[in-house]
Amino acid sequence: MNYNKKSIEDIEVAGKRVLCRCDFNVPTKEGKITSDKRIVAALPTIQYLIAHGARVILCSHMGKPKGEWKPELSLKVVADRLSELLGKEVIMASDVAGEDSKAKAAALKDGDVMLLENTRYIKGETKNDPELSKALADLADIFVNDAFGTAHRAHSSTAGVADYLPAVSGYLVQKEVSIMGKALANPERPFVAILGGAKVSDKLNVINNLLEKVDTLIIGGGMAYTFLAAQGYSVGKSLVDNEKLDYCKEMLAKAEAKGVKLLLPVDTAIAPAFPSPIDAEVPVDYVDCTAIPADQMGLDIGPKACEVFAAAAKSAKTVVWNGPMGVFENPTLAKGTIAVAQALADSDAVTIVGGGDSAAACEQLGFANAITHISTGGGASLEFLEGLELPGIACLQDK
Ligand code: 3PG
Repeated sequence: MNYNKKSIEDIEVAGKRVLCRCDFNVPTKEGKITSDKRIVAALPTIQYLIAHGARVILCSHMGKPKGEWKPELSLKVVADRLSELLGKEVIMASDVAGEDSKAKAAALKDGDVMLLENTRYIKGETKNDPELSKALADLADIFVNDAFGTAHRAHSSTAGVADYLPAVSGYLVQKEVSIMGKALANPERPFVAILGGAKVSDKLNVINNLLEKVDTLIIGGGMAYTFLAAQGYSVGKSLVDNEKLDYCKEMLAKAEAKGVKLLLPVDTAIAPAFPSPIDAEVPVDYVDCTAIPADQMGLDIGPKACEVFAAAAKSAKTVVWNGPMGVFENPTLAKGTIAVAQALADSDAVTIVGGGDSAAACEQLGFANAITHISTGGGASLEFLEGLELPGIACLQDK
C-alpha cells in the first residue's frame, strides 16, 4: 500500500471549513476522562489548522453506541478537555451532521473550532452509509483524517466522506504511518518483534506477516502456550487454542525455513487458576516450560524468559512490541510485561509499541519518553503490522 499521502501542509486551509476526523475515543470513568493521550496526540494538527486560519470542524466516535444517543458517550467531555488544552473555546454541536451542526459550521470564523457529537450516534456511521458521508462532507470544504486509531475502520467519518471532499492526512496519521511504515518496509537490523496477548487467533496474520520481515520473533503472553503445545510440550491447564495447533506448527516451520529466530518463553509463572477478580492475590510459582504440572496454568513469562527476551530487545536496532506477556492487570503476573517494557526503555534501538495494553504498560510505568513511538492505535496498529491496507489512509490523496 502507498503511504505517501498528502498532508495538511499540501493543501490551502486558510478560510476553508476543514472537517478533521480525530480518534477521541478516550477512556472515561464516572463521566471523567482517565487518559487524554489521544486528545493530546491530535493537538499538533488542530493547532496547525487554527494557526493557518481554517474553520475547524472536528469529529470522532466514542465507544460503541450503535446508533443510540447514549448520553454517557457524548463527546462533550472531550470538548471541555480540548478547550483547556487549546486555551480557547471549542464549540459543541448537539448533533452529528444535523441542523445544529450545519448552523454552527456555517457561523464559524477563521481559527474557530467546533466538535460534532459522537459519529456513532448515527447508525449509518459504521455502515459507511453514503448519506451520512455526504451530510458530513456538506459541512466542509476539505477532509483531514488524523484518526490513526480508527484508520482500520471503513466508516462514513473515516473513509466514506473522502468520496466527496479533497482528503489529506493530519500530523498524527503521518507520524504513525511513517514510523511504523519505515520499521516494516526498511528496518534497521537486527529487527525484533515481540508479540503477546491471550489468543493466537487474534494475531494469525500479524505473525505470518512479521515472519517475512523480522530477524527474531518473540512470542509471549497466553498465546505462547499454544505454540509450546504445538511443539509437543504439556502445558497443564494453560490456555491452548486447539484449533490453532496446526497453524502454530506451520509458523514454526516457516520461521525455520526463513532463518528467523522464533523465541518462546523458557520458563513461566504458574498458578492453579486464573485470578478472579483479575487483580486478586494468587499463589505463584515459576517452572520451566518443559515442566508445567498438569493442574497448573501458565499466566506470565518467568524470570529466565524475561532475561532472554530483554537481551534480544537490547541487542536489536528495531523493536516492535504488541501485547502483554502475562496477566498484566495482576501485580504478581505483570512482571514479564514490566521486564519487556523496561528492556525497550533501556534499548538504543528504534522502539515501537503498538497500542492497547502494551502502550498502557509503558505509560503506567513511566517509560513512555524512553520509547521511540507509542502508537495511539490498538486494532489499527495490529492491522498495520498485518500488512493490511487501512481504509482511513487508503482514501487520502496520494502525493
Ligand atoms: C480504538 O479504541 O481502538 C479505536 O478508537 C477504534 O475503536 P473501535 O474498535 O470501537 O472501532
